[in-house]
Amino acid sequence: MSQKAILVSGGAGYIGSHVVRQLGEAGERIVVLDNLSTGFAEAVLYGELVVGDTGDQALVRKLLKDYDVESVIHFAAHTVVPESVSNPLKYYGNNTCCTRNLLECCDEAGIKHFIFSSTAAVYGMPDTMPATEETPKAPINPYGMSKLMTEYMLRDLSAVSDLSSVALRYFNVAGCDPEGRIGQSTPNATLLIKVACEVAVGKRDSISIFGTDYPTPDGTGIRDYIHVEDLADAHLKALEYLRGGGESTALNCGYGHGYSVREVLEMVGKVNGTPLNIIEEPRRAGDPPELIAGADLIRKQLGWQPQHDDLEAIVSTALAWEKKLAAKS
Ligand code: UD1
Repeated sequence: MSQKAILVSGGAGYIGSHVVRQLGEAGERIVVLDNLSTGFAEAVLYGELVVGDTGDQALVRKLLKDYDVESVIHFAAHTVVPESVSNPLKYYGNNTCCTRNLLECCDEAGIKHFIFSSTAAVYGMPDTMPATEETPKAPINPYGMSKLMTEYMLRDLSAVSDLSSVALRYFNVAGCDPEGRIGQSTPNATLLIKVACEVAVGKRDSISIFGTDYPTPDGTGIRDYIHVEDLADAHLKALEYLRGGGESTALNCGYGHGYSVREVLEMVGKVNGTPLNIIEEPRRAGDPPELIAGADLIRKQLGWQPQHDDLEAIVSTALAWEKKLAAKS
């Protein structure tokens, strides 16, 4: 009998493509479903790429059957927070309704394992730090709400079916494949490390610090930056956990400590050999002063042990990728 497959929706995107690479290296059989709206065909280094939508039930049913799919890892989603505020139905449509359709197909096909890319945005602006899995869920934007709704669908479906799931709540994901084969190519990036690297390679003139008057040691926002390689590994560990009969769960993905915006920008300048051109601006609407993961549960439940908890390593791989992109253009 041929090997059963893993369906990876959104596997041509930044995080999905890193997970596909690690799954491929581990010898898994993979089928990627991606509409290439923000992903890139060349980022899919293993398995087969099918270009299509996650909400297309006829296509999904066919893939689950044709590839004899045993597990689904679901990344396909819109991820731009401000856009979710200006166009909420786009986010509820793709992130919530399409996921509901995907889950219906999984349920019909008897899929047993489902791994979902959730977000720290489900916590909104927590009153206490770090944010543990017990921290109240109170998203402050439709992006976070659209993801939390999927977590609730998974919880409710697993209560009445054979499907078990792991929702991974990502904190601030950054960095790239250390061998430079794949990276973050998103156009019009807004994420701090990506933007800083674009400044370092001359794609932008300057970077703004949004807020220097936060109640933090240097006045700038603090985040828990996690290397995409460690995040990808958490998905493989989640799969192992579900295959071993683990119960449905939702887990934070972060290191449990953070860096300020100034510390990150200093590191990008140091790795690049020249300080960045920095402009200090007022706070950006909706930014919490600090967001750090309570990161014990994932270690306990999945046996996850991060290997790249090092800001310099994160920044070095992100900058190397940005230089590669700059050389191509
Ligand atoms: C990101 C995620 C969000 C998730 C959160 C988890 C996206 C679009 N957002 O948001 O879903 O909940 O991580 O912690 O994936 N900053 C600047 N200048 C810039 C850009 C950012 O000063 O040009 C600052 C921000 O004010 C913030 C920090 O850098 O303090 C990080 O911002 P950013 O990289 O945009 O990520 P988050 O807003 O934390």
